[in-house]
Amino acid sequence: MATIKACVIGWPVAHSLSPKLHGFWLARYGIEGTYGAWPVQPDVLAEAMRRLHTEGYAGCNLTLPHKELVLPMLASMDKAAEAIGAANTIVVRQGGALHGMNTDAYGFMENIRPALSQTGKAVVLGAGGAARAAIWALAQAGFGEIVIVNRTQEKAQAMAKYFGAECRAEAWDARHTALAGADLLANATNLGLAGGEPLDIDLAALPPGALVTDMVYAPLETKLLADAKARGLRTVDGLGMLIHQAVPAFEAWFGVRPQVTGEERAWLVA
Ligand code: ATR
Repeated sequence: MATIKACVIGWPVAHSLSPKLHGFWLARYGIEGTYGAWPVQPDVLAEAMRRLHTEGYAGCNLTLPHKELVLPMLASMDKAAEAIGAANTIVVRQGGALHGMNTDAYGFMENIRPALSQTGKAVVLGAGGAARAAIWALAQAGFGEIVIVNRTQEKAQAMAKYFGAECRAEAWDARHTALAGADLLANATNLGLAGGEPLDIDLAALPPGALVTDMVYAPLETKLLADAKARGLRTVDGLGMLIHQAVPAFEAWFGVRPQVTGEERAWLVA
C-alpha cells in the first residue's frame, strides 16, 4: 500500500507541534504514513490546496490565517466548520474535491469534558477565531448562559448575536465581576502567551466549583491557571485541546482513531 501523506500548512509553521503528535501516532499504530510541515503564505494558499491533490496527499491541517481563507476553496464542509466559519482540517476526496472540517471545537470540549461538572454559565475571554470555536462547542454542549468578554466589545456583541439566545457580551472592564456564578472560565485570547502581554484578571468572584481553562499552552501553566489553582479551583491546560483536535483529523486521513492515553502529552513536552 502506498504511503499516506498529510501535513500542516501555516505561515509560520515551524513551531507547530502537529508533526510531532501525528508522527507519534503513526509510529504507535504502525501506519505507513508521513506528516510534514509546509510553510505557505496566505496569497498562495489556493495553489497549495491544488498541490495537495496533485502530490497525492490525503489532507492537511491549517493554522491561522488559512483556516478562514480556505473556505471558498472547499467543495464541502462539516457542520462545525460551517457554524464556526473556519476549517482546521482538510480531507482530499475523490477527484481532488476538498472537504473541510473544524475539529478545534471538538478538541476544546474533549479536553475539558472530564473535569466539567456543570453546564450552566460559561465566561469566554476573547472574540477571535479561537473564541468562536470554544463558544460554538459550549453552545453545543448545552451551556445555558455564555458570556463573551472582549477588549473590542463590538466583536463580542457581533459574536453573541451570531451564536444566539444563550450568548451575551460584556465589556472588557467587567471581566472580573462577570465571573460571578460561572461554572467555567475559558481564556481564548492570546494574553498570557510566553513573551507576550499578561492576562490581568481577578478570579475572586468565581465560585469554588468552577473550572478554569486556558487555550494558551505555552507556558503550559499560565498565570491564569496558577492563580486558579492557588484559589483551589480545578484547571485544565490548553495542550489537551491540541491533542484532542488531532484525533478526528488523524482518523480521517490514516483510518485509525487514535486513543488519547497521556503518552502524547509526555512526548510533546519532552
Ligand atoms: P485567535 O484566532 O487565536 O483567537 P485573534 O483572532 O487575533 O486570534 O484574537 C485574539 C483575541 O485576543 C481577541 O479577542 C483580542 O481582542 P480584540 O478583539 O479586542 O483584538 C484578544 N487580545 C489580544 N491582545 C489583547 C490585549 N492586549 N488585551 C485584551 N485582549 C486582547
